[in-house]
Amino acid sequence: MATNLQTVDWVDGKLRLIDQTVLPRELAYLDYEDWREVANAITTMVVRGAPAIGCTAAFAMALGARSIQTEDWQTFRSEMKEIALVTRSARPTAVNLMWAVDRILRVIDRHQGSVEQAKWAAEDEAVAMLDEDLKVNRALGRNGAELLPEDSTVLTHCNAGALACVGFGTALGVVRAAVEAGKAVRVIADETRPRLQGMKLTAWELLQDGIPVTVIADNMAAVLMRDGKIDCVVVGADRIAANGDTANKIGTYNVAVLAKHHGVPFYVAAPFSTIDMTLPNGTGIPIEERDLLEVTHMDGVRIAPQDAPVWNPAFDVTPNDLITAIITEKGVVRAPFEEKLRALSQQ
Ligand code: MRU
Repeated sequence: MATNLQTVDWVDGKLRLIDQTVLPRELAYLDYEDWREVANAITTMVVRGAPAIGCTAAFAMALGARSIQTEDWQTFRSEMKEIALVTRSARPTAVNLMWAVDRILRVIDRHQGSVEQAKWAAEDEAVAMLDEDLKVNRALGRNGAELLPEDSTVLTHCNAGALACVGFGTALGVVRAAVEAGKAVRVIADETRPRLQGMKLTAWELLQDGIPVTVIADNMAAVLMRDGKIDCVVVGADRIAANGDTANKIGTYNVAVLAKHHGVPFYVAAPFSTIDMTLPNGTGIPIEERDLLEVTHMDGVRIAPQDAPVWNPAFDVTPNDLITAIITEKGVVRAPFEEKLRALSQQ
């Protein structure tokens, strides 16, 4: 099972990432020792997907701490502040990135006065987050699996699988857990323009597992729903506001509108590290806009007219009234979301 696929790993003091820019052509690994290169790997999407970005950011912090040449606490702490600032700005939407940076800073501050101890603690914390991610995904997978019919076809958008996490996945974790529980699950993968994570990554990793998957272009979902071919939608999330509004890959909102129209349940699967209780609703979620070449070009070849104006937001926000339930490691949450999310976030 590709559930053994480890997207982010710590091997002999180096960060090892699967290079997602070359999949599915090639399964290649890249090793990192320089924290700036790690931050750049997030920006350039060598690693992507909210939980994977979070864990990678933790290692950027740990490697950054290790690179600081001083025994003086004040100097160390102010250099860490700079490293945190740069790491935090690698990508704006997935809150797991900020969550991970803050978590490492908190651990460092627990060792106030001892630079050496703080460096080791940062590394230990980042390593612990790898295992934690896998456990959290398995738990939310089990919670979500109960929602899937015994024999079901699940539509997903983008890649919220093992490749988007340390392993196992969130939306695809739900699928995997259902399969492990003996259910017959098939996946319809939206190709997910413009970067095609659905076709390149979701289809690839499900094929590794032998889970049936069919790729469709993004504009084909409506017809499948109309014809009763989709039992439910399960997607991941990059940031969930306190009221349940959910930022995820651009096009997720389209799918949610279609699901509502056709009476198809629409589930968001995400760990609590993706929930931003500081934002009352989705209007405050920063939406990344990426290079226009992602839209105008395919595999390096221009497909748009030379002077065509282009817009390329990487994410959209699905309003909470389109969401049937949010599947987390602590349980399945249904509307009204805020009170329940707040209570669970304190557990
Ligand atoms: O731009 P990406 O590929 O990082 O976007 C990824 C997504 O939108 C995922 O659905 C989301 O991060 C959840 S991953 C478990």
